[in-house]
Order: sequence, then C-alpha cells, then structure tokens
Amino acid sequence: MKANMSNGTLNVDKPIVLIGMMGAGKSHIGRALSGALDFRFYDSDKVVEERAGCSIAEIFERDGEDKFRMVEHNVITDLLSGGVSVIATGGGAVLSADTRSALERGAYVVWLSASVDVLMERVQKSQTRPLLQTDDPKATLSALLEQRTDLYSNAADITVDIQSDHAGETVDFIIKALSETINPGSV
Ligand code: S3P
Repeated sequence: MKANMSNGTLNVDKPIVLIGMMGAGKSHIGRALSGALDFRFYDSDKVVEERAGCSIAEIFERDGEDKFRMVEHNVITDLLSGGVSVIATGGGAVLSADTRSALERGAYVVWLSASVDVLMERVQKSQTRPLLQTDDPKATLSALLEQRTDLYSNAADITVDIQSDHAGETVDFIIKALSETINPGSV
C-alpha cells in the first residue's frame, strides 16, 4: 500500500506495529499514525477482549497470564496476516519468542520508549492493568521495564523516545523514520 506523505512517499508492504511499556501511548499514537497514513488501526488488547468476551483483568484472574499470552500471540499473528495496518500491542507482547519471530518477519516494529516517571504519570489514573495491582506500582513498572528493555530494543526497527504528549510530532517522527528505513536515502 502506498501513502503519499508531505515528506515523500511511504511504500509499506506489511503492518506497522507499536511496542513498548504500559503507558507509553501505543494506542493513542497508533490511532493518530493510522489516521495520518489512512491505514486501518487495531489494538491487540481490544481484539483479545472481544474474542474472550471479557476484560484482560478477568482473563488474568480466571485463566492466568500464560493463557493471556497465548491468546495475545494468536491475535497478533492474525492481525499481522490481515494486510497493511497499524497495530498497537500490549506491553508484554514481546515476552513471547513466537510473537517476536512473527514481528521480525511480518512487521515494521516501532518501540515507544519512555522513562518510568513518564510511564507512571500516565498509568496511575487507570486501575485496569492487572500487573500493576501491587503495593508499589512504580517499583513494579521499573522492574518490568528493566526485564523488557532488551526485548523491545532487539525487536525494534525504529525507537522513539516519548517525552511529551505531542502525538502529532511523534507521528511525524515515525513516518520520517519509517521512510528512511524502508527507502534509505529517500528523506
Ligand atoms: C501488559 C500490558 C497491557 C495488557 C496486559 C499486560 C503488560 O497492555 O496487555 O495488561 O504485560 O505490560 P498496555 O501496554 O496497552 O497497557
């Protein structure tokens, strides 16, 4: 699929997938990016909930994290095979080696990287994330980020440092970086 950008032409033959921690803004930025490119948008967490007919918190409580990761993997591979789109994934999607291989083969992967303080500010308003229902959510978030940083970094074609809420600037940056990755020397 071809999207004509003000800064050039973006030829994309596979989905653009956003990875990163809870609170990095994957859904918000993903929706804005899909609007700018006129691509379909999917949020893998939402698709998991639709398929399961219940919330992610309920899946964790009833069936456990391992079951959630299996369903998440199936959803992501299905979305990857559905043609060009923008897909926001759950923060732990990269924990599955199978999902990492599927992303490596079938997507342009964008890591939205943010500090624990930025992430914490964003997640503290929401009570919906089962992994953060601990006595010290900031310490939990920090430990998860430490465990996952190498996985995100190795999976990413592009890394975006998220410091502010300016989705427009982030979207412009991603599009430019993708253009350069896909057609080196084009921007
Ligand atoms: C998770 C992140 C959540 C959701 C689930 C597990 C994680 O998605 O998939 O609660 O392991 O980091 P968001 O990153 O969209 O909050």
